[in-house]
Amino acid sequence: MQHRRSDFPTGFLFGAATSSYQIEGHAHGGAGRTHWDDFAETPGNVAGAETGALACDHYHRYGADLDLVAGAGLDVYRFSTSWARVLPEGRGAPNPDGLDFYDRLVDACLERGLKPALTLYHWELPSALADLGGWRNRDVADWFADFADVVAARIGDRVWSAAPINEPWCVGWLSHFAGVHAPGLRDIRATARAMHHVLLAHGRAVQALRVRGVGNVGGVFNCEYADAADQSPETARAAETYDAIYNRFFLGGIFRREYPEPVLAGLAPHLPGGWERDFDTIAQPLDWVGLNYYTRKRIAAAPGAWPALAEQDGPLPKTQVGWEIYPQGLGHFLRMIHHDYAGGLPIYVTENGMARDDTIGPDGSVADPERTAYLDAHLAEVRGAIDAGVPVRGYFVWSLIDNFEWALGYGPRFGLVHVDYADLKRRPKASYHALAAALSS
Ligand code: FCB
Repeated sequence: MQHRRSDFPTGFLFGAATSSYQIEGHAHGGAGRTHWDDFAETPGNVAGAETGALACDHYHRYGADLDLVAGAGLDVYRFSTSWARVLPEGRGAPNPDGLDFYDRLVDACLERGLKPALTLYHWELPSALADLGGWRNRDVADWFADFADVVAARIGDRVWSAAPINEPWCVGWLSHFAGVHAPGLRDIRATARAMHHVLLAHGRAVQALRVRGVGNVGGVFNCEYADAADQSPETARAAETYDAIYNRFFLGGIFRREYPEPVLAGLAPHLPGGWERDFDTIAQPLDWVGLNYYTRKRIAAAPGAWPALAEQDGPLPKTQVGWEIYPQGLGHFLRMIHHDYAGGLPIYVTENGMARDDTIGPDGSVADPERTAYLDAHLAEVRGAIDAGVPVRGYFVWSLIDNFEWALGYGPRFGLVHVDYADLKRRPKASYHALAAALSS
């Protein structure tokens, strides 16, 4: 690895990120059913019909996994709490084993000198709430605030940071318009409501966290660069629409109390009545902004109804999941978030990494030079942004360990650490060792 810890300002934090459903093993510990279980058990939704039932069995192996975080010399462990593990029915009686688990996890972080970075929701909605309409139902904001309160009451005194919802775009658009993630809808009215209710729930949860005295509260947004496929005005409009849906709707709601015009052009008729009055709740002051960045998309105009755009195959080298490697997009979004939205708040890269078809070599090692190069290229963009005056304060790799990559199942390997799904053995990859060397030197 070309970068060293000393290339970054004093206090700059390095971390690794995971999420509950992707690693814990949802069948264990009394967790309730989630819409990801339902989605994954429906044929055709997930590659190989795989589920998170066992995943990486992190529920039982979290101590060894946190040893790996600490062993790399990382500072932060970003994890999420499963709503249905804490509240099996989404509301009502908590599952004591679930709360105990997150309590132990946070203490285990602190024992190893790691800062626990909590995300309350990383996509596995309790099925009981999905039955009531899930993110389409305005009441989800109150259900979510109650969940935030239960978690904050138990571990809020010891987490380093807290964010309500991982990647609102995935919760809203990908899951309700594109149908790619649970609940797998392709419905414009459901999309408009989910996208708005996600922000309302974010605001209500921030309020709940503050009431419990939780500090250092932020939001985590994923951005994807829109690369216009040609010079035509129609294509420019398509790329602008993509950028607005993906990158500007959620940040706009929280930091500017408005939704971008190219999104309203399609979604306004489908938003819930009185949505403009919700910005008082949505626009809660935050302490930091998290950016998850992976790739860009080549966007072209397409005939037909809004959003009238199509994704095309791009020319750049791609990762195992077909995502173009475009580090410049990370620098672009760090500057954009700083200038257009965050207004000086600390920014963290809360996820960045690549999927690779990693295999175990004859000597038991896992060589992944492309991953080390990917991390280096993106760290160079972080440095460039810092040099340009953007207050970037940390960089967290997705992911600590290979895991359940949602609709793509267990095939894509994003980890710094290889997981053999036959015996669940963990093997640090070459990129893990490279990162550890960079951080210790
Ligand atoms: C992000 C998600 C994370 C993982 C990575 C590859 O969008 O937050 O769970 O799926 O992509």
